[in-house]
Amino acid sequence: MASKLVVLAIVSVLLGYYVYTPIPEAVEERWKLMLVDAAFRSLEHLAELTELIGFKHYMEMMMVLTVAESVDPSSDENVNVTDTTFNKVPVRVYEPISHSPGLRRAVIYIHGGGWCLGSAKMQPYDLLSRKSATELDAVIISVEYRLAPVYHFPDQYNDVYTVVKYFLQRDVLLQHSVDPGRVALSGDSAGGNLVAAVAQQIQEDPDVQGEIKIQALIYPALQTIDFNTPSYQQNENMPILPKTLMVRFWSEYFSCDKLLLQNMMANSHTTLESRSLSNFANWSIHLPERFRKDYKYMLPDRGNTDSSARIPGVFDSRAAPLLVGDEKLRSLPQAYIVTCEFDVLRDDGAMYATRLEKAGVQVTHEHFEESFHGAFMFITWPTDFAIGQKMVSHYIDWLRKNL
Ligand SMILES: *[C@@H]1O[C@H](CO)[C@@H](O)[C@H](O)[C@H]1NC(C)=O
Ligand SMILES: *[C@@H]1O[C@H](CO)[C@@H](O)[C@H](O)[C@H]1NC(C)=O
Repeated sequence: MASKLVVLAIVSVLLGYYVYTPIPEAVEERWKLMLVDAAFRSLEHLAELTELIGFKHYMEMMMVLTVAESVDPSSDENVNVTDTTFNKVPVRVYEPISHSPGLRRAVIYIHGGGWCLGSAKMQPYDLLSRKSATELDAVIISVEYRLAPVYHFPDQYNDVYTVVKYFLQRDVLLQHSVDPGRVALSGDSAGGNLVAAVAQQIQEDPDVQGEIKIQALIYPALQTIDFNTPSYQQNENMPILPKTLMVRFWSEYFSCDKLLLQNMMANSHTTLESRSLSNFANWSIHLPERFRKDYKYMLPDRGNTDSSARIPGVFDSRAAPLLVGDEKLRSLPQAYIVTCEFDVLRDDGAMYATRLEKAGVQVTHEHFEESFHGAFMFITWPTDFAIGQKMVSHYIDWLRKNL
């Protein structure tokens, strides 16, 4: 713990000039965010360097943080924690020890990290699961899906799908004393992406026994059509998740092909085929005015499209769940969608909220004016932020009332 702070301090001093990133006034604890961001950017630059000299893939270097934050499964007086597998996919299961008699709720949780990073075992996710288990008297299934660059789409998606399908079996639910009518699917960032995608597909699978009662999407990534939405433009250089990193995550999800990354960065990766889908992510139609602001809508450019045409999945709705017609949205479970003002992904979430509502799905869209991408995970010392605690407590309150 202390070593984490020391590393953070050293890195911040060495790269002092890094610290002076302009951070919007509306963000609380700005100095703390500047320090955390300086540490993050140092790691990103180190990753770029190690990749440049051919030592390690960029994401392998970035993975250092995930590994450093890993904790073993340890039970405490409230929660029994075990690592196991569901149909060969690793999961960490949190069960409240002293629970009221009868059946209880369950949350299947999908961590974030751009399909490349992160783990159910990371301290903030571990804490979130413990808190959710205790405060909701719920069983939490935290999924350890495979990651890029070793595994690409649809492996991440398939792992989550497998776990959800397995857990929804009557006998498995009963074995965990879970009420089949009270199962939630929830995740942040890339995890929110996987939640939205799996929720859409699972409703059409005749072999799935139960159903998802609610879906919670915390600042999800949902579309691959346009990386120039107002939020991508406004927050291009925002701490934690600048546009370059988000686009890199997207391209790594599909392939390590550098041409795809270049085209995605230039927003010139769309194809003739994707044109027919682009209205589903058209922000001049689906984005509320308060988010559109004065940004001028521009058609995504169709430049060198070979890369995305060659690589399967880029416009597959299992990867980009905003890219489906209304008929597919209508029967989706009730949704809780969180967005942050200072986040490139704000408009992905806001557009999905609008489209779900129009399709008749019950939606709670909670927008945090003073927050930034990743805040939901910033709940453990020394990277704890009041806004992170606030977001987590709102999330748990919403689940308490709706699950
Ligand atoms: C914790 O879970 C394990 C595995 O399911 C079980 O064997 C053990 O009895 C549980 N412990 C408590 C205190 O509930
Ligand atoms: C998005 O919507 C606007 C306004 O309706 C329209 O002019 C534009 O062509 C649409 N873009 C795409 C890619 O369909």
